Amino acid sequence: MSDSYGIDRREFVKAAVAIGGASALSACLDRGPEIDVPRGPEDPASAFPERQHAWNAALPTDDAGNNHHPRHRVLLPLSYGDGMPTDAERETVEAALAGLERAYERSAAGLLLTVSYSPYYFDRFDESLPESVDLPEPRALADFEDPDADDIDAIVHLASDHGEVVMGAEEALKGEVDELNGVSQPDASLTDVFTLGERRTGFIGDGLPAENQDVDGVPDDGPVPEDAPLYMGFESAFQGNQPGEDRVTIQSGPFAGGTTQQLSTLTLNLKQWYEQDSRDQRVSKMFCPHHASEGTVEGTGENLGTDPQMDDCGDPTETARSEGVVGHGQKMVDVREDDAPIILRRDFDSTDQDRAGVHFLSLQRTIEDFVTTREAMNGDDVASNSAVGQRTNNGILQYIDTVRRGNFLIPPRSLRALPPANPADDAAENAEVAHA
Ligand code: HEM
Repeated sequence: MSDSYGIDRREFVKAAVAIGGASALSACLDRGPEIDVPRGPEDPASAFPERQHAWNAALPTDDAGNNHHPRHRVLLPLSYGDGMPTDAERETVEAALAGLERAYERSAAGLLLTVSYSPYYFDRFDESLPESVDLPEPRALADFEDPDADDIDAIVHLASDHGEVVMGAEEALKGEVDELNGVSQPDASLTDVFTLGERRTGFIGDGLPAENQDVDGVPDDGPVPEDAPLYMGFESAFQGNQPGEDRVTIQSGPFAGGTTQQLSTLTLNLKQWYEQDSRDQRVSKMFCPHHASEGTVEGTGENLGTDPQMDDCGDPTETARSEGVVGHGQKMVDVREDDAPIILRRDFDSTDQDRAGVHFLSLQRTIEDFVTTREAMNGDDVASNSAVGQRTNNGILQYIDTVRRGNFLIPPRSLRALPPANPADDAAENAEVAHA
């Protein structure tokens, strides 16, 4: 199909998001059709939830009942530099973010966004983060990985079904546009306060990986299934293998209503996955051997509805012993609480650096919850008690390299502009000053 509404246009928009900048945006807009994006409210502060990460209520569900994931993404890394944030800078950051929220409805058809801060940002304050926040510096989480630390201060996550929206939002945050979606923008930009790092981009959703598989890491003959939402060919975030947002939200202290974000950059190596592994091997490695032998997963797994039926997979070590292979999802079932994982996955694929990759973005109450889950995925126990290798036949470890890891705090919305490390201490100090 080559009309401007078809695959050609989708590829074009995705390519434009990856390139970014004002000219890519205007090329997209010129190419039409004009998209009609609803505007946001006049006063986002009173209309929007405290939880920046409360996206689920703003997302449509697919036919099966799973949350739809906004198709286009931009991550904007920000460095603050030395020194302490001032109130004027906080106002600038807040005004820039609120400008986007007035321009676009808070939804997948409009714009969803979070801003988060790293431990390196919080290091500058005399106070420590409160005990209710678990935010260590990132570290390697497997013997076989040696990731760079994502040592930026902050990162903005922009998500929308429309590439033009994430691009427009990015240009506005850089102070490059006066008007966005017909809404005039404040004279305030993130670049007044931060230095922008190298942008990161990505996508998720049926068709996009297949349309963008001409990159390193994917065999040349275009093996990614046409309707797959991710490069590895399967649906991933079923309702039944995601926790609710409450489970990942910080419950107490000054950052209650916030969450932590783990963000790793993974590169994919799908040669063996698509050229040597059979369909049954792929299902075994992704889900579990039981699902392969029973034919539980059809195509990309849409037939599973909301439930990948992980309880049927059996004990990972026993499976590894009897089948010589263990599933990715299967290894993490033991970590579940109340029959759900403890990390909320909002990851997406990427062609950054012309290489197939994943920006693995997950939310959890504590970074420790992520570490526990990631260690289960390593399957060290399984490997030492069976013929399964450290990485081979051990879920999907063989196909992934973790090149960078970062940990961030997504504060509640009212603290999203350059938060102090301990707002409660800060408030107490201000009260003392006021008293004196
Ligand atoms: C290339 C990277 C990855 C891909 C393509 C991928 C894909 C998938 C897919 C298709 C599923 C659903 C199938 C199932 O539940 O068995 C799944 C589940 C899951 N994945 Fe991944 N994954 C990736 C990386 C990761 C990483 C780095 C983590 C972090 C620890 C992770 C954590 C999980 C969890 C917690 C589940 C749900 C397990 C459960 O149902 O209890 N995944 N993944």
